[in-house]
Amino acid sequence: MTDNKRIVLSSDHAAIDLRLAIAKQVEALDWEVVDIGPTTPESTHYPKHGEAAARKVASGECRFGIIVCGTGQGIMMAANKVKGIRCGVCSDEFSARMIRAHNDANMLSLGARVVGEGLALSIVEAFLGSEFEGGRHGTRVDMIKEMEE
Ligand code: RB5
Repeated sequence: MTDNKRIVLSSDHAAIDLRLAIAKQVEALDWEVVDIGPTTPESTHYPKHGEAAARKVASGECRFGIIVCGTGQGIMMAANKVKGIRCGVCSDEFSARMIRAHNDANMLSLGARVVGEGLALSIVEAFLGSEFEGGRHGTRVDMIKEMEE
C-alpha cells in the first residue's frame, strides 16, 4: 500500500468534458487531482497527453493516471510505451476491477465517444475501489515487467 493519493488526469480535445467530470468525482472520492489538461478545445495530439500523464505515474509523483480520448485507445497505446505503465481501456466496470485485481494496472483509459458520463464515472469508481490480488497474478505482472528490461 502507499499513501500517495494523487491521480493525474489528461485527455485530448475529444474528451475535455469527460475529463473535467472525472476530476470532480475523483476529488469527491478523496483523491488529489493533478489535471494536466488540455484546457482549450483546439485539436491536439493524444500521444503527447498520454505520455505526459504516464511519466507522472512512472516517476511516482502520482499513484494512478486516468486518461481519456475519443476511443481511449490511442492515448492508452502512448501511455503503455512508458516503462512501468500498465494501462487498459475499459468500457465496463468488470474490466476496471480486473485490471487492478489481476494486472495491477496503474492507469485507466476511457473513450469519451464510447461510454457516457454515468458509465465512465462508475468505471472510475470500480478502478479506484479495487486492489491488486498478487499471488499468481504477481508472477504474470512480473513477466510483463521483465519484457521492459
Ligand atoms: C481524435 O479525433 C481521436 O482520433 C482521438 O481522440 C482518439 O480516439 C484516438 O485514439
